Amino acid sequence: MKKFRVAVIGTGFIGNIHCEQLMRISNVMLAGIADKNPALASEAAARFGAEKIYKNADEVLSDGTIDVIHNCTPNNLHYEINKRALESGKQVFSEKPLALTAKESSELVKLAEKENAVTGINFCYRYYPVVQEAAVRVAGGEIGAVYNIHGNYLQDWLLYPTDYSWRLDPSMAGASNIVGDLGSHWCDLAQFVSGLKIIEVMAELKTILPVRKRPKTKETLTFSNASDIDYEDVKISLDEYGALLLRFDNGACGTFTTSQLAAGRKCNIDLQVYGSKGSVAWNHERSAELWFGHRNEPNRIFFESPNIQSPETRRFARLPSGHPMGYMDAIMNLFNDFYRAIELKRANKTPDFRHPDFKAGHEEMLILEAAIRSRKSGTWAKVDTV
Ligand SMILES: NC(=O)c1ccc[n+]([C@@H]2O[C@H](COP(=O)([O-])OP(=O)(O)OC[C@H]3O[C@@H](n4cnc5c(N)ncnc54)[C@H](O)[C@@H]3O)[C@@H](O)[C@H]2O)c1
Repeated sequence: MKKFRVAVIGTGFIGNIHCEQLMRISNVMLAGIADKNPALASEAAARFGAEKIYKNADEVLSDGTIDVIHNCTPNNLHYEINKRALESGKQVFSEKPLALTAKESSELVKLAEKENAVTGINFCYRYYPVVQEAAVRVAGGEIGAVYNIHGNYLQDWLLYPTDYSWRLDPSMAGASNIVGDLGSHWCDLAQFVSGLKIIEVMAELKTILPVRKRPKTKETLTFSNASDIDYEDVKISLDEYGALLLRFDNGACGTFTTSQLAAGRKCNIDLQVYGSKGSVAWNHERSAELWFGHRNEPNRIFFESPNIQSPETRRFARLPSGHPMGYMDAIMNLFNDFYRAIELKRANKTPDFRHPDFKAGHEEMLILEAAIRSRKSGTWAKVDTV
């Protein structure tokens, strides 16, 4: 079997996870790594046995032996690197958000179509086995017509004024910190599980700590501990809290709350979908469980299982019943679909599954921009459709 030669650009928090999960995909070889910090690139290359360390992204993009790139750089580099990778004939798997603006993400969707490329974006929470199961059950009518969708995505890693990240710098993160970062994941999940589209948004976005202490001397990686360094005060303008009222395309309403200053919540993603016959809910802190709610019979907990999940979703539950999978496995499941999609395309076959691609990334950019318009106007904002 020919293996796809893959290069990972950016080996910070998520880049390392990409490298590790790529090693579990049978038709892939990690051919190269690039990071602007050479020490991080060398560390990752040694750890994952990458063939080559590239000096920078340019060198990767001009290497004709690389079939696929994974773009794991900060947000401000997504558009440029994704665009040039597509133009150089590569298949592209990008981190989210897809770009800094919907204009850029729309351009990427069109370019991918023109280049006939397979694209992917890391909306990984879809790929927990029971989240896939929830989507199949909702599509099959198990909870009836969807009336309401509620949920949150809460973290606490920006609780203190000394917590700082490039995610708070508009030149690197874009026009939003938290709605672009956590909101894009949640909205993707809500749309994926319900099969509905968000068409209108009313948003309150807030900066809770308007001044933070940024490390003077060292660049901090995401989730690093910055306790031993000098600081300078920096004004923060981006959102650390967001509350969205949502309208879906079938008339359903929803609410979504997100904060990175929610003490004790590390990665609490909660999704509740209420329908005319019943409801389904998932929480990332108990990610192997799906909750089914009923009015006239006992509620049920469905535990991830390759034996009892629907035929369409069993392939995502790779461990024997009772052994929960996790974040790394969800990413591996997604990579598996992405590389299968490339293989099928090369064989002129159509996949019988749909992984999140640049179109899904663009949809989230359109929702984000509607939220930003709503915050400015104080009114509902329609989500653009193109
Ligand atoms: N899908 C998910 O669950 C998930 C989780 C975390 C992060 N992300 C996304 O991944 C991206 C990276 O986030 P992170 O948390 O890994 O950040 P990070 O700061 O930990 O890592 C970013 C890396 O990119 C490198 N880099 C910066 N400029 C570069 C350049 N010009 N060329 C090559 N490398 C460069 C940095 O040196 C660093 O190693 C973000 O867009 C973020 O939204 C997604």
